[in-house]
Amino acid sequence: MISDIKDQIERISLSPTSTIRETMQTINRGALGLALLIEPETKHFIGLVTDGDIRRALLKGYGLESLVSDIERPEARTARVGTPVDRIAVMFNEPVRVVPLLNENHQVVDLALFDRRMRLPVAEPSLSDKELQYVSECILTGWISSAGRFVTRFEQMLADYCGVRFAVATSNGTAALHLALLALDIGPGDEVVVPTLTFIATANAVSYTGARPVFVDSESETWNIDPSKIEEAVTSHTKAIIPVHLYGRPANMDPILKIALKRGLAVVEDAAEAHGARYKGCCVGSIGDMGIFSFYGNKIITTGEGGMIVTDNEDLAGKLRLLRDHGMSDNQRYWHPVMGYNYRLTNLQAAVGVAQMEKMDDILKAKRRIAQAYHEGLQNVSGISLQPEAPWGSGVCWLYSILVEPDVFGATRNEVMAALQAQNVETRPLFPPVHTQPIYNTGQILPVAERLAKTGLSLPSAIGLQQDEINRVIDTIITVGSSF
Ligand SMILES: Cc1ncc(COP(=O)(O)O)c(C=O)c1O
Repeated sequence: MISDIKDQIERISLSPTSTIRETMQTINRGALGLALLIEPETKHFIGLVTDGDIRRALLKGYGLESLVSDIERPEARTARVGTPVDRIAVMFNEPVRVVPLLNENHQVVDLALFDRRMRLPVAEPSLSDKELQYVSECILTGWISSAGRFVTRFEQMLADYCGVRFAVATSNGTAALHLALLALDIGPGDEVVVPTLTFIATANAVSYTGARPVFVDSESETWNIDPSKIEEAVTSHTKAIIPVHLYGRPANMDPILKIALKRGLAVVEDAAEAHGARYKGCCVGSIGDMGIFSFYGNKIITTGEGGMIVTDNEDLAGKLRLLRDHGMSDNQRYWHPVMGYNYRLTNLQAAVGVAQMEKMDDILKAKRRIAQAYHEGLQNVSGISLQPEAPWGSGVCWLYSILVEPDVFGATRNEVMAALQAQNVETRPLFPPVHTQPIYNTGQILPVAERLAKTGLSLPSAIGLQQDEINRVIDTIITVGSSF
């Protein structure tokens, strides 16, 4: 029994000879809305009392010194430890959020909590006391805005991690992309090549500058921008290429850099989803002229909202800093030689970022464990294909994503998603290609991206996922295929 659970059980346990007052104090201490009645000698589980039971007893006239064993309470739902999760899942309903798990001696050894075990989220932040400690420092010292030690520390940590000289923190990843393009003087009349299979922010950041995003199809091998299709999209107006490292898998950078060099284009890597991924040993984000990261709540590391641009180019770093802060001169306060923005990250957010950077390796390790578990469980399921890992890339599992080929698998992507939803397993479809979005709708046919988007979905990839939970996802998928 892990000590956290043991402590939690002890915190909410009390003898049936306790008073209502003592029970209320115990319920309050445990913050689960209930207390466990445990026979002190044998440690046998006798029943549970919820705060609702207490409220009803008090309304009926019981006093605070009445014995808790005298009050009315419905029979507790319990299960033997080791009961399959799907059997426990059906025991939960609106009032029942906690099911005590008993050993053969009728002692409580674990608690199945509705939120902890039942709903499997696609992603969730991993926050702990370090984030709280650093944020508390900001509050206690008053450094809550965009000046303060955590902003520069966070920038330095990511720059070091990526092996680059400069990092500029921004209020989110979209702002980071926007600033990167502005720093390259991209504007009206220009074109920027982007993959169509990406989150819309990649293209929108181009549009914010007044330039036009030009959409390129994906390659089936990596799902990323197809380098062999980039050149036909380049015109005399093209200024830059934005390869996206989709779902944490690196795009094939060498051919992209070659085209960029030949045609005089800048490369801005969109590594919003790929912290820690490597291309031929180099951290993504550090390979092009600039790279951007997002720290939105569902990302590999998070600051709630936040972004960063990394670069080795000192001039670009200076421009990015100027543009991030209203275009205000370094030498003269309230003097604005260029039109800038307020795209600053706060010290509060950066405090979370520093704590997250400190555990980045652990997060990536947990992500690898999840990817490996899915890989082992799904690799031989016919009709399911996994996001391929190219030999030159070492990806990270931002969201573990698969394709469902309905003719072979026997069910469609949407049927798989619906079956998982019925088991409280959250999924996401792959991004709809941006060239098909109402605000762009170019009329192009980009068949690879369109097929991927129609058949792809992302599975729960939060780092707290346990092996039995991953098995539940895998088993549900396999069952859908065989039952249709
Ligand atoms: C590929 C890609 N680019 C850019 C962004 C934008 O980042 P943010 O949400 O921090 O603005 C995201 C975020 O979701 C993304 O997935």
